Amino acid sequence: MVFSKRKMKHFLIIGVLLVFGICFYKSWSNPPTILTNFKENYLDNKHSANHQHHSASNNEQQQALVGNEFYTNSNDDAENNNVNILNNDFKNELNQAYKRIDLLESKIKELERRIPKKHPDVRFLNYKNRKRILITGGAGFVGSHLVDVLMMQGHEVVVADNFFTGRKRNVEHWLGHENFELIHHDIVNPLFIEVDEIYHLASPASPPHYMYNRVKTIKTNTLGTINVLGLAKRVGAKVLIASTSEVYGDPTVHPQPETYWGHVNPIGPRACYDEGKRVSETLSYAYAMQENVNVRVARIFNTYGPRMHMNDGRVVSNFILQALQNESITIYGNGKQTRSFQYVSDLIDGLISLMASNYTQPVNLGNPIERTIYEFAEIIRDLVGGKSKIIQTPAVEDDPQKRKPDITRAKKYLNWEPRVPLKIGLEKTIEYFRKELARSNHSQRNIFIPDVE
Ligand SMILES: NC(=O)c1ccc[n+]([C@@H]2O[C@H](COP(=O)([O-])OP(=O)(O)OC[C@H]3O[C@@H](n4cnc5c(N)ncnc54)[C@H](O)[C@@H]3O)[C@@H](O)[C@H]2O)c1
Repeated sequence: MVFSKRKMKHFLIIGVLLVFGICFYKSWSNPPTILTNFKENYLDNKHSANHQHHSASNNEQQQALVGNEFYTNSNDDAENNNVNILNNDFKNELNQAYKRIDLLESKIKELERRIPKKHPDVRFLNYKNRKRILITGGAGFVGSHLVDVLMMQGHEVVVADNFFTGRKRNVEHWLGHENFELIHHDIVNPLFIEVDEIYHLASPASPPHYMYNRVKTIKTNTLGTINVLGLAKRVGAKVLIASTSEVYGDPTVHPQPETYWGHVNPIGPRACYDEGKRVSETLSYAYAMQENVNVRVARIFNTYGPRMHMNDGRVVSNFILQALQNESITIYGNGKQTRSFQYVSDLIDGLISLMASNYTQPVNLGNPIERTIYEFAEIIRDLVGGKSKIIQTPAVEDDPQKRKPDITRAKKYLNWEPRVPLKIGLEKTIEYFRKELARSNHSQRNIFIPDVE
């Protein structure tokens, strides 16, 4: 059961009042033992003193009031005895009170832990500057980072996701925020909602995920894109389509500029994704030309960072997880194929700049620094600090040999280029996977099983 923050506070206050009430009632119904003990001891001592010294019975007993207790100076020994008893009883009572306070403090802490944490402080935007932004696939890796930035900027963000590869946990820190809404929705079905901008990110992105249900991948990228463009048309929203470097296939031009048409096998294992994204681009420009929809197309190259899926299955996550678990790092083929990786925060800057720009042609967003797969394996192993062996396995069908973006367009029209150095980005990502592994070991769920064939 999920309680609102306000309700949890009420529960906390009621809980504390209840505990105090019980303590008060207990001490009231059982008169303070200090007084009873003292009186009993006092009477005993008095009795023995009278018995021993009853010849001196002429001594007048003077009574003085000390606090709530009666005090007599008729006998010095008895008096000292009583004072000692009083001191000891006080100490005992005090210790018991300290124990009760400790108990209460730990109960309060436990209740406080159950109160949802405060949302991050977002910027305030007045209604003229504040936009309603839909992010399809916003519970995924890239989408959730985009949610964070747009929320912090003060916009209203609606996430529509079917949670195929995304997780509520990626956006749970925004649940309950007045500017945030999460809708469980599959984008192959139409969505009716009022928004100013749409980032269409819904689609599995890694080969094991998009090959898992190839027909569904094609539907998401075709029917899903039609639904998003139809929505944009109806409400006059600007829409950004997340395309991919895979539209270039196994490229024959290197690096790849946006003007390159690609080299894609239409019936290969990657076709459901590659061709799906190519149709998605075609649809976007068809809606732009025919229906005047304001479209932006980002061709995203390999991206890495925290919140990547444990079973992403691509180079960075595979290598990090194998190194963290002291397993052999497996390379498909000879390891001489090259890749370039951008850190997720760089991509988010690029997506937001593209949406804000007036540039309507496709734009490559990626890091042009190229490395061989073998180099990546070595860098990751060294950063993790393990002693994993690097081993080669047979090459994968249609695995591109080279991938490197030409980012001249992004630099020129968006004034954008990646800034996060590989080592910094990898360290953050390794830390994230380290924590994920600790979580999964603890719960025995979501355990990563490296895909070594
Ligand atoms: N991460 C990369 O390196 C990369 C590279 C190129 C392109 N892209 C593109 O960026 C976008 C986001 O990729 P990601 O890495 O965050 O992937 P991801 O798998 O982490 O996120 C995709 C999100 O879309 C959701 N989704 C999938 N099918 C859906 C459907 N039918 N309806 C509603 N939601 C659906 C998933 O549940 C998930 O939350 C994708 O469109 C992907 O093709 C990513």
